[in-house]
Amino acid sequence: MTLDVTGLHVGYATAKVLHGVDLTVGRGESIALLGRNGMGKTTLVRAICGLRPPTITAGSIKYDGVDISRKTSFQVSRAGIALVPQGRRVFGSLTTYENLTVVPRRRAASKDDPWTVERVFDFFPRLAERSKSMARSLSGGEQQMLAIGRALMTNPSLLIMDEPSEGLAPSVLDVIQDRLAGLSASGLSILIAEQNVDLALDIASRVVVIDDSGTIAWNGSSDALRSDSAALEQHLSI
Ligand SMILES: Nc1ncnc2c1ncn2[C@@H]1O[C@H](COP(=O)(O)OP(=O)(O)O)[C@@H](O)[C@H]1O
Ligand SMILES: [Mg+2]
Repeated sequence: MTLDVTGLHVGYATAKVLHGVDLTVGRGESIALLGRNGMGKTTLVRAICGLRPPTITAGSIKYDGVDISRKTSFQVSRAGIALVPQGRRVFGSLTTYENLTVVPRRRAASKDDPWTVERVFDFFPRLAERSKSMARSLSGGEQQMLAIGRALMTNPSLLIMDEPSEGLAPSVLDVIQDRLAGLSASGLSILIAEQNVDLALDIASRVVVIDDSGTIAWNGSSDALRSDSAALEQHLSI
């Protein structure tokens, strides 16, 4: 299952944002999508996941060879792509348990163990303790765990996360970082949009950077970016 984004142009009624993005996420690969605030990371992941707005005006998005650029978010999810959206977006008036069980499930690939509520609770034991609590009463870190667990419940072959570290305390960040590294090591394909470069580089083996040209301005291994101080400064102001 490879994600192939080719020559993608995406924008809103008021502004074009992406002007020809090329991006590939191979089977089992973990890619970090970096870029300063407002460069179009969320725009890109929403376009991939079938969420509108934004609008795709040119280019293609293929998953496993099939063009998904005109599919609905439900169809994209059924194709095996799950999104952990920016800001978590858990269902506040449902319990933790209900958040995990309301999602439409797809059958796991035969080689993979299906995700169940029990498996999510093993993965994030904190969620088991909050099983009967309303999601709105959870801490930011717990809500992020729940958003990740909810995405895993769809049995994705590609997990896309949009700024999972946003607003989290360092102690929670360590837990999330460790769990995401585990998912990556288990062979799940991951695309992670982040402002937290250290976390992204820890999880991903390859990096793409969007800049204000609305294209991929830098592309290389995580190790190469770590040692490229000029690129870090130019594209990420680090
Ligand atoms: N719903 C929207 N309508 C119009 N413009 C938007 C909308 N969402 C985002 N934008 C604009 O698109 C650009 C990219 O935003 P975004 O994809 O959220 O960036 P990032 O996720 O990298 O911070 C920004 O200039 C932002 O103001
Ligand atoms: Mg964003």
